[in-house]
Amino acid sequence: VPGGIRPAIPTAILAVFASLLSGEAGLRADPLEVPREEFRSRRIALVSSLRADLPEGGTGVAIFRSAPAAPFATFRQDSDLYYLTGTEIPGSTLVLLFDRPAGAKGRKPAGKASGGRFAEFFYLPERDYREERWTGPRPGAGGLRPETLEPDEERNKAMQVTGFDRPPDPDYPPRNYPKGPVERASDLSAHLRIFLRGADVLFFAADPGSPGEALSPALAYLRDLRDRFPTIRVADPSGALARLRMIKSPAEIALLRKAIAITCEAHRDAWSRIRSGMTEYQIQAVIEHRFLHEGARRPGFPSIVGSGPNSCVLHYDASARTVETGDLVVIDVGAEFRRYSADVTRTVPVGGRFTEEQLKIYRIVLEAQRRAIAAIRPGVPFTEIHKVARKAIEEAGYLAYFLHGTSHFLGLDVHDAGDTGAELRAGMVLTVEPGIYLAEKSIGVRIEDDVLVTERGAEILSDCLPRDPAAVEMQMAGGLGAGGR
Ligand code: GLY
Ligand code: MN
Ligand code: MN
Repeated sequence: VPGGIRPAIPTAILAVFASLLSGEAGLRADPLEVPREEFRSRRIALVSSLRADLPEGGTGVAIFRSAPAAPFATFRQDSDLYYLTGTEIPGSTLVLLFDRPAGAKGRKPAGKASGGRFAEFFYLPERDYREERWTGPRPGAGGLRPETLEPDEERNKAMQVTGFDRPPDPDYPPRNYPKGPVERASDLSAHLRIFLRGADVLFFAADPGSPGEALSPALAYLRDLRDRFPTIRVADPSGALARLRMIKSPAEIALLRKAIAITCEAHRDAWSRIRSGMTEYQIQAVIEHRFLHEGARRPGFPSIVGSGPNSCVLHYDASARTVETGDLVVIDVGAEFRRYSADVTRTVPVGGRFTEEQLKIYRIVLEAQRRAIAAIRPGVPFTEIHKVARKAIEEAGYLAYFLHGTSHFLGLDVHDAGDTGAELRAGMVLTVEPGIYLAEKSIGVRIEDDVLVTERGAEILSDCLPRDPAAVEMQMAGGLGAGGR
């Protein structure tokens, strides 16, 4: 408090205290917090991978920009930038500068470049107090103290909260380059002139779009850079980043488990409330109430509550119909907890009992899912999972009614980044979600679970929710309670 008397606790003691709390002694204050150091490790891992695209002795610059902030929309940071920084600051930009050593010939295996120098720069907008009256305080870039050229208080604070907290390395970047690690967004354009003048490859992701379409902001930005630096080679870092993002760390898996646990609770809430005469939006309200109540900021994707004919509309999100006894309801929902999204579907009967005809279809889908999950283990191609599910549905004679793929990666995005051409590896999390949709009978059935690939096989993270039809009926009647299946 300005002007107040502050207890004189030396900062050094506070720092020791904070580091104890932050997990160095195994005692993290918040067990679900991703350690700051992990974000730096991700940046280092990305650089190690991108280096392979540099010529020997070459320099690379990678740029990751913030998602745009729009009025009256909740800000959601670009997933790549979030993955690399763990921050949600609109208008921020990450720049990674790195080189590949010239190296003695034959010393390194071809395509592999591990050594090399690396510097990082996190550009933050300056604070705007007028704007902050509307949006709340944000860390600002601050500046340097005029006498010592050390970071001022504002910048020090930003360095701490963002984890870009190491003092610049005296050897790299080169002299006359910006020193970082926190810099002002308004300096970025001038700094890029310095970075790119000396670089061989610019790593920047921009979807090329289609001819005749308006240029996306990312593409316009890239075009501008190409105009200013016509000789630089441009490469897309998305593939390298996707290959990192598709293997989840223990901290990420913990967040996914939490998102999934909330989602299972929400399903259970909804099942016990569903009655003939209720609307789809009321069912959705029960689900999203649970999300918010448990600290999930938003659904990871528009909630799907499709009853009767709507059970056959794959991404139905209007939630407008009134449900009736005898309907099936496809409930495909996922809480987003600290950026990580669940994605769990169950198909339940209004009135609490499946009809014989519904049950027949339900069992085929369930068996397809069972076989697909059973096929999951390290070394199996990602595409194999869909083949197994397809084959099961084909054998039952319903292949024409299976209208979508079986799996996608799950993580920061509900359809998460990853290489679907790769083999499964421990640490991947994917959905398994076969479905059969008989529109003329208003019978749509989808069963979707979230599965972690483990060293030995698979763990169904969404096993907290029953899928066996008898167990679903029992749960709807308020029977077995939590965990029953
Ligand atoms: N909820 C979207 C999907 O299952 O892919
Ligand atoms: Mn889904
Ligand atoms: Mn899905």
